[in-house]
Amino acid sequence: MEELVVLNGGSLNGVIEIPGDKSISHRAVMFGAIADGLTRVRGCLMSEDVLATIEAFRSMGVAIDTRDQGHIKISGVGLHGLKSPARPINLGNSGTSMRLLVGILAGANIDASLEGDASLSLRPMGRIVSPLRQMGADIEMSVNETPPLRVRPTRKLTGISYSTPVISAQVKSGLLLAGLYAEGVTRISENGRSRDHSERLLPKFGIKLDISGNEVRLDGGQRLAGCDIAVPTDISSAAFFMLGAAISPASEILLPQVGFNETRNGVIEILRLMNADIEVRQKDTSGGEPVADISVKTSNLSGVNIPVELIPAAIDEFPAIFIAAACADGVTVLRGAEELRHKESDRISVMADGLRNLGIKVETYPDGISITGGNMTGGFVDACGDHRVAMAFSMATLKASGTVSIKNADGISTSFPTFFEVAKSAGLRIK
Ligand code: S3P
Repeated sequence: MEELVVLNGGSLNGVIEIPGDKSISHRAVMFGAIADGLTRVRGCLMSEDVLATIEAFRSMGVAIDTRDQGHIKISGVGLHGLKSPARPINLGNSGTSMRLLVGILAGANIDASLEGDASLSLRPMGRIVSPLRQMGADIEMSVNETPPLRVRPTRKLTGISYSTPVISAQVKSGLLLAGLYAEGVTRISENGRSRDHSERLLPKFGIKLDISGNEVRLDGGQRLAGCDIAVPTDISSAAFFMLGAAISPASEILLPQVGFNETRNGVIEILRLMNADIEVRQKDTSGGEPVADISVKTSNLSGVNIPVELIPAAIDEFPAIFIAAACADGVTVLRGAEELRHKESDRISVMADGLRNLGIKVETYPDGISITGGNMTGGFVDACGDHRVAMAFSMATLKASGTVSIKNADGISTSFPTFFEVAKSAGLRIK
């Protein structure tokens, strides 16, 4: 795709089916691969990022049957059954694949190199490599602490007590996985609450964890037993439709059975603070994860100061939230969110550039942004290969006064391969 062109205007309506959760799909594949026996995953997201994880394990000798789209079967090889891959493993755009996989490889006693695309090659890996080295892992990274990574066999890992310098589920999960291979106890504490999908899913594979507050402990040497998993739909993908319905006239959508884990649903709290008309119903659980029906109607949004404690639970939704801010009355301010500069793109500067191109007043800070709501024009935006930036600006067209052309929007297939069909049938005027 050279350029994504979306005509302005329109509204979003109807029941919108969102695909499976990316974070949970990655974990289901990884845990299934190192489990003993068969794992069946229903509703697995078959996006480029998850396919990168699947291919990685195939290259290490794990049989994964993906013939029945979204219902995959993994023949686990057990904790110590992975084989050194013949070639470097390419993880594309996927930070989750790299940071969790290196935790497994640290203890798997094999030799492997991990690499990625231009964006992944710039992402910080010291945050996971340094504690893994403290556990005894032999891992090389570039001088800038970025990929490629080279993992060499290590005879023994030892559990550590570690306080993560950033609130990150990827770091926490990578260390928990390494902890399974380690002698003794691995203890991880965070200064806040990152998404807890690993803590919810590992017990399904028979792993015992102790959780108290923001600390997780796990005894090394436990083996995973294959199981059946149902993946809920992805609230991060649903968020673009929540945004679209809230900012466009005559809109009313229903998003059925969306993942509604409290470590992920910050976007709903923030949009509600902005006065969005969102209703959450039919709360249930699916595969150990809360789910809910979410309906959203046209709303008169107002600018807010985003509470810093809501950041971890909304960490992937800021591109959508920034577009909501551009469509709101008044000013929205976000501070304490330096992490956004280390996502698939520097989301503070890439979003600020795009919003300014559409006539919106924006100020940036090292750790945040302030956005003054106003009349959004049409124009040209560079998504810089970042899937969430591209989807957020596609929704902005519902409110813009002219066509928006989005460059480098190919990344959308890393998390939401059916976005175009789903968005078009809901009412987005994609050319
Ligand atoms: C993820 C954790 C978050 C999130 C990413 C997926 C995960 O990253 O931004 O999209 O699946 O664990 P951090 O751990 O870097 O916060």
